[in-house]
Amino acid sequence: MVKPDGVDGKYANVIKKTILDSGFSIIHEIELQLDENTVKTFYAEHSSKSFFSNLVQYMTSGPVLIMVLEKENAIADWRALIGPTDANKAKTTHPGSIRALCGINSERNCVHGSDSSQSAAREISFFFDKSSSG
Ligand code: PPS
Repeated sequence: MVKPDGVDGKYANVIKKTILDSGFSIIHEIELQLDENTVKTFYAEHSSKSFFSNLVQYMTSGPVLIMVLEKENAIADWRALIGPTDANKAKTTHPGSIRALCGINSERNCVHGSDSSQSAAREISFFFDKSSSG
């Protein structure tokens, strides 16, 4: 998912090019303005964290671009390509990563990636109806 800063900052196209150049296929994509309830449900596992309300506020601040990516070893490879959660740290430790390119810190980190095949399955069915082609 390209988060509001990434979409607003016009990074979506360069991110998509990086995705394709890195051997991923984009199977589905949709740009959405998320509402509060949707974000709270999507990030429910973080609801007890001190940053939760900031996260909800940020993720509803503008449209996001949600994509389903396909590749051998996609989850690990995508997480390597985006770099660590803290985009500020990514700038020194992973300078070629997507978060180093367009993120600022742990909150404004530009992109999201599923952290396991289980969460990928949940997140894909959360946003895309399994029977649709788009
Ligand atoms: S944790 O506590 O280790 O599970 O959290 P982490 O994996 O670092 O982050 C989970 C998601 O919460 C976002 N995050 C924040 N949002 C707002 N403010 C602050 N301070 C903050 N810290 C972390 C972070 O961007 C993660 O979002 P995703 O979409 O999973 O990258």
